[in-house]
Amino acid sequence: MKIGPYVLPNALFVAPMAGVTDRPFRQLCRRLGAGHAVSEMVTSKRELWGTLKTSRRADHAGEPGPIAVQIAGVDPAEMADAARYNIDRGAQIIDINMGCPAKKVCNVWAGSALMRNEALALRIVEAVVAACAPRGVPVTLKMRTGWCDAERNALPLARAAQDAGIALLTIHGRTREQGYKGQAEHDTVAAVKAALTIPVVANGDIDSPEQALAVRRRTGADALMIGRAAQGRPWIFREIAHFLATGERLPPPATHEVRRWLLDHLQDHYALYGEDSGVRSARKHIGWAVQALPGGAAFRALMNTLPGAQAQWQAVAGFFDELADRHPLLPLPAANDERLRLLA
Ligand SMILES: Cc1cc2nc3c(=O)[nH]c(=O)nc-3n(C[C@H](O)[C@H](O)[C@H](O)COP(=O)(O)O)c2cc1C
Repeated sequence: MKIGPYVLPNALFVAPMAGVTDRPFRQLCRRLGAGHAVSEMVTSKRELWGTLKTSRRADHAGEPGPIAVQIAGVDPAEMADAARYNIDRGAQIIDINMGCPAKKVCNVWAGSALMRNEALALRIVEAVVAACAPRGVPVTLKMRTGWCDAERNALPLARAAQDAGIALLTIHGRTREQGYKGQAEHDTVAAVKAALTIPVVANGDIDSPEQALAVRRRTGADALMIGRAAQGRPWIFREIAHFLATGERLPPPATHEVRRWLLDHLQDHYALYGEDSGVRSARKHIGWAVQALPGGAAFRALMNTLPGAQAQWQAVAGFFDELADRHPLLPLPAANDERLRLLA
């Protein structure tokens, strides 16, 4: 699997998720089997580049390459500037966001809202490619299947973007109107894959090794992108990689391994955000990690009351120590096979 000149270790991508896929989380996912990770989106608005939020998002210190940065905006010239700005700060791949349905993004006619204005969307792609090509930086594009059910225009837009020079396309199998509701449909993804010559990445509702195989078969996609299912379960990448390679499921990870991954992640998280902000934003990662585990709900409630990094870190260590005594392997509930049935 290649993006431009970069050979990736495998064809499993971590989805960009604002507020989730910061550098520590991307590094964790890569450590546990993801072959590629895209940053949280960075705005094209120059006046925001100096903010703490954006400068943290543009910080790639120690991250293994290729560094892929997602940019979001509505103005072709601003998007080209944003691409250059991020390349100067280490980006090796620029990803254009036409997939995010968030209000903040759509109100300013960015993210998936761009799919409603194909001409503007294309001008953005052309401007960003023109800014990146002289620097040898490939441009990738992430989109949905369309704006709404009646306007499922992923195919013409994907063809035009390919002609404009993008190196890879990711499609989330939902329209903008769907938000995250309903099931992702992968037939449109399959149609786009069949029509393009560049690599196509399928995204949407992949939450188990079996689902990954089903989506790959259904779409013929070159790679798979996983978002929400990696929250609290970043080892899903190696589970999927193993299943795709062997047809067999890995056993659940050892509880003491999960403890180590989470504690290492917390250290990285505090180091990036500082103690106050880091303790607050780490709560969601801890919550995801424990939510399906015995005693997880009570622990989550307790953990939300702990003020400092040391108290939080030690509480997590204690929770997993006790769990490991009772369950050497992580006691996760059985997978939900309903989506598989629908895909079959
Ligand atoms: C909390 C959250 C934040 C997201 N932020 C972004 C983003 O910044 N850029 C983007 O292109 N997509 C974003 N997405 C969409 C995901 O990349 C992905 O397309 C979507 O979650 C579907 O994949 P999944 O079913 O594997 O989660 C976000 C999704 C979530 C849940």
